[in-house]
Amino acid sequence: MRSVYCGDVNEQHLEKEVTLCGWVHRRRDLGGLIFIDMRDRAGIVQVYFDPDQKEAHALASELRNEFCIRVRGIVKARPENQVNSKMATGSVEVQARELEIINRSAPLPLDFNQENTEEQRLRFRYLDLRRPEMLERFKLRARITGYVRRYLDEHGFIDTETPVLGKPTPEGARDYIVPSRIHHGRFYALPQSPQLFKQLLMMSGFDRYYQITKCFRDEDLRADRQPEFTQIDIETSFMTAREVQLVVEEMIVGLFREITGADLGSLPVMTWDEAMRRYGSDKPDLRISAEMQDIADIVRDTEFAVFRDPANAPDGRVCALRFPGIQEKITRKKIDEYTDYVKVFGARGLAWMKVLNDSGDASGVQSPIAKFLTPEMIKGILERTGAVAGDIIFFGAATDKNQISTAMGALRLKVAKEFGLVAPGYRALWVVNFPMFEKNEDGSIAAMHHPFTAPEGVSPEELKNAPYSVYADAYDMVINGYEVGGGSVRIHREEMQQAVFNVLGISPEEQQRKFGFLLEALKYGAPPHAGLAFGLDRLTMLLTGTENIRDVIAFPKTTAASCLMTEAPSQPSDEAMGELGIAITDFEE
Ligand code: AMO
Ligand code: AMP
Repeated sequence: MRSVYCGDVNEQHLEKEVTLCGWVHRRRDLGGLIFIDMRDRAGIVQVYFDPDQKEAHALASELRNEFCIRVRGIVKARPENQVNSKMATGSVEVQARELEIINRSAPLPLDFNQENTEEQRLRFRYLDLRRPEMLERFKLRARITGYVRRYLDEHGFIDTETPVLGKPTPEGARDYIVPSRIHHGRFYALPQSPQLFKQLLMMSGFDRYYQITKCFRDEDLRADRQPEFTQIDIETSFMTAREVQLVVEEMIVGLFREITGADLGSLPVMTWDEAMRRYGSDKPDLRISAEMQDIADIVRDTEFAVFRDPANAPDGRVCALRFPGIQEKITRKKIDEYTDYVKVFGARGLAWMKVLNDSGDASGVQSPIAKFLTPEMIKGILERTGAVAGDIIFFGAATDKNQISTAMGALRLKVAKEFGLVAPGYRALWVVNFPMFEKNEDGSIAAMHHPFTAPEGVSPEELKNAPYSVYADAYDMVINGYEVGGGSVRIHREEMQQAVFNVLGISPEEQQRKFGFLLEALKYGAPPHAGLAFGLDRLTMLLTGTENIRDVIAFPKTTAASCLMTEAPSQPSDEAMGELGIAITDFEE
């Protein structure tokens, strides 16, 4: 139907005939001449209808925004004074000879010249996706998957599909479950990840596997989380953690170079302990230079119990976080706001110190806690943090060091964002050596990664005796404060897998019921294996510069996990429910 995309018409086509298909982007009727901006996926070109071309001109007067049309015409050079250097096609225009209105459009429920509510955009998603800015993100997403596939194919990874109807794969979220018609009272679980299947493929001898695949997790949604999202899932045999990291690091560095021209360099490797200590996060944003310093040794003997007690507690922490040059801009009101903010993360309060001059002692600072600190302590704090006139230091203290680190880490991000202290560009790193286990809020024990992750350098016996002091051979790739990927070396021996299940309080019967197939597979010469998965949506967010995951998913769900366009989830018919042997007892209003 067409000879060239609207956005591709250029000087090569001068005086030639072209046939275009697309939409009316904008229309201007200048009495005699009618101009339209005609749009397709490649861009926009100006088309004009001359009264001389009677039939086309008459029909053109009927055109409205978003009509779908076909135009045959001759490409002309624009008069010198009408060249639009902002448009790719700005030096040419098409003199229409023939117009076909393929389909008319009702006035759009979205206004492309204005901000529309996200609700309206999601309800009319197919129209929202007509916006060039949206389309560009999906073109880029396709380039990303293309690059990744080429890289992994070339490096010997075998693209293998795994089931979507399966058994639960524990990744820390709730499962989406699907009732079985054939087996009443039984359900499939949608995969939270292909974790167990990819491990089994290693036991089959595939050696290198990958899959770009959907994962499903029923969890609290956020700006970077969707209930169904896409992983670039990878597994290898006979490779150490470092070897796996280097293979996929080359892919990600290559990807960022290809798409943005940015050079991520060689990624630094930081332990989880160090990341928590310096940045208060297991996914530190290294674009922000502010770091936390420990000051427990300096304030150990202060009369200020808020500092003294944590400073002397075995698992306590007193830390300082300095921000350069913003002292004057931080009002009392701001400090109150920040105090409330850190309280959300469990901190009890937020002490602070403004540095007014470089005297280096109590006379140069303003702080509600200065009266509790000796001049030596103040001097020590200024030296430790490197604070100079104009800076502000925040302090956090608690007997639970991870809790206070997390609270101060969140404050670090908030202050840096509000005061423009985030450097441009991309900063990537590996975070490694995570604790194997963590405590849930209810005090129960949980695997920090997943229960198939290998512990580092312990026997099953040692693991059992001191689970909280064991580290996992796990690693996350972090870019600009986003966890873009994570993985681990896996357990490949039955005794160790059972020991981990035991620590997690999974009884031998439950182990058999849930993971019997895995425990069995480990009996037949399972190779050592390791892998990881990248969040494709998060990578795409970073590469397209959006902070909203819904911008990079063609048909996303709301934070309430529904689709405003199709109105999923919906109620099945009574007949379907009958066949499934299911009755609903608790209806949502
Ligand atoms: P993990 O749970 O860390 O690991 O997931 C891997 C990556 O997937 C992305 N991700 C998400 N993206 C969008 N919405 C979500 N709800 C969501 N959840 C996770 C993140 C994350 O880094 N099987 C293991 C991987 C392995 O060990 O090989 C796993 O799924 O970017
Ligand atoms: P108070 O004497 O309790 O009013 O506290 C004095 C200052 O210490 C106030 O600025 C509090 O916000 C701050 N503060 C209280 N608890 C903590 C804590 N756990 N960590 C850091 N600062 C705190």
